[in-house]
Amino acid sequence: MFVAQRAGDNQCMGRGDGNSAGRSWTGRIVVSVVVVVALIGAAGASLTYFWSSLRIDTQGAVEFTRPLAIPELASSTVDEDGVRIFDLQMQEGTADLGHGPGTRTWGVNGSYLGPTVRADRGEDVRINVRNELGETSTLHWHGMHLPAAMDGGPHQMVEPGQTWSPQWTINQPAGTLWYHPHLHGSTAEHVYRGIAGMFYIDDPDGPVLPDEYGVDDFPIIVQDKNFDDDQLSLSNRKLSEVGIVGEEILVNGTPGPYLEVTTERVRLRMLNGSNARIFNFGIYSESDGAVLPFTLIGADGGLLPRPALVQAVQLSPGERIDIVAEIPAGTSAVMRSTAPDLGADFWHSRLSGGDDVFDILQLRAAPQLETNTPIPSVLAERENLGEPVEVRQFTLLGTRINEQRMDMNRVDAVIDVGATELWEVTNGDAQPHNFHVHDVQFQVLETDDPMLSGVKDTVYIRPGQTVKLLMRFEDYTDPQVPYMFHCHLLRHEDDGMMGQFVVVREGQEAAVTAPSGHDGHSHP
Ligand code: C2O
Ligand code: CU
Ligand code: CU
Repeated sequence: MFVAQRAGDNQCMGRGDGNSAGRSWTGRIVVSVVVVVALIGAAGASLTYFWSSLRIDTQGAVEFTRPLAIPELASSTVDEDGVRIFDLQMQEGTADLGHGPGTRTWGVNGSYLGPTVRADRGEDVRINVRNELGETSTLHWHGMHLPAAMDGGPHQMVEPGQTWSPQWTINQPAGTLWYHPHLHGSTAEHVYRGIAGMFYIDDPDGPVLPDEYGVDDFPIIVQDKNFDDDQLSLSNRKLSEVGIVGEEILVNGTPGPYLEVTTERVRLRMLNGSNARIFNFGIYSESDGAVLPFTLIGADGGLLPRPALVQAVQLSPGERIDIVAEIPAGTSAVMRSTAPDLGADFWHSRLSGGDDVFDILQLRAAPQLETNTPIPSVLAERENLGEPVEVRQFTLLGTRINEQRMDMNRVDAVIDVGATELWEVTNGDAQPHNFHVHDVQFQVLETDDPMLSGVKDTVYIRPGQTVKLLMRFEDYTDPQVPYMFHCHLLRHEDDGMMGQFVVVREGQEAAVTAPSGHDGHSHP
């Protein structure tokens, strides 16, 4: 429509120019004014067109025709020392992501995404990570408290054809963690191609909750994608600095997914596995459109102290929520992401997907629902971490933290083991950022957001906002191997919005160098 209008304007201008030769000054001025107005109109029309094309709304327009894929539970064996052993192979493949069967993808033990790893608190685990991608990568256990050398960050590179076998003891409360590559400079691409999976930690001594995998407990990995024909498009959004902003949604790799709900309560462990997009998830009845409030029971690394009934929850990349929904028998509901409140100006908000609405997943409740366990009123205790012995300030701006770009040879913080620290993290920018810390789960201070009432490892920070994060570095000293902290908008992370810290014993000095053969800077 706009194109046709513009063509019409151009024809008018052409005629005006052709006839202007013999006209009076006033005539010429009139013609010039008409031309200028027409040009402004045309530019305005195309700008308006461009601007409105940046807003996506799929409400009511998604056909939910495919059953939601449920990642398999990773199989494991237990050796004679009681170590639970998993095998994860990063590999290439093809998958049907809604554009035919020939889309080239990456996955773990399969062609897209990976199996759900599940282990108990207190268990020793070893994971054989084999790299069959044909290029270097890493596999990071996001949210895990473990020795830095086992973390799978940028320093633990796995070369093609090699196997890396980290081993550690699961030493933290029940939570919904995940795994993904972390190769410095290439994390965005590796995650986007499809390497990601869930990591559930169970606590046999924790509260009783719905936890039958694939029956009343489902992983829900939400990702946005773009396609060029039938292949994934890796292009960053134009004019935006946040990187890839996808216009199509996949849940566990399924486009247009529905889930058959068979129990009164269905537990959904939701991960925002996108590169940059921020979602605002709610559940709506399909018969009358009414909001169906749901119960938030956990976020990131653990259960909340108490369940909270909420209408919507906003999730930035890397964050998780653990929710329990009750869909009335014989009805269906749709999980929808309405426009998230990014706290940014209208320009940055729209460019970052802040005005978008997506229908995500249909929940179809059977005519008869099985009874399952109710949600207890107390879920976890908020630990007293004590007073901070150190306060650190970090400001996120552009693709820098405190004006510095990530360097694998530089240590940004040396932390005494056992210390409780307060990190004050500011988004000094006009665009969205979030902040993720490896090794620990932190408490967010001075907030009444129920999602932030438990322990977190990733938190959204609005432009101009400062968040106060309290954390304790309990154990696992290593002066030579650092942990990371970074923005989890993956393009920002890759471009250098990341820093390193080591946890040391008294008297130890940091001695970190990038792995040999790697200069420690972003790949081009
Ligand atoms: Cu989810 Cu440092 O990463
Ligand atoms: Cu992480
Ligand atoms: Cu960022």
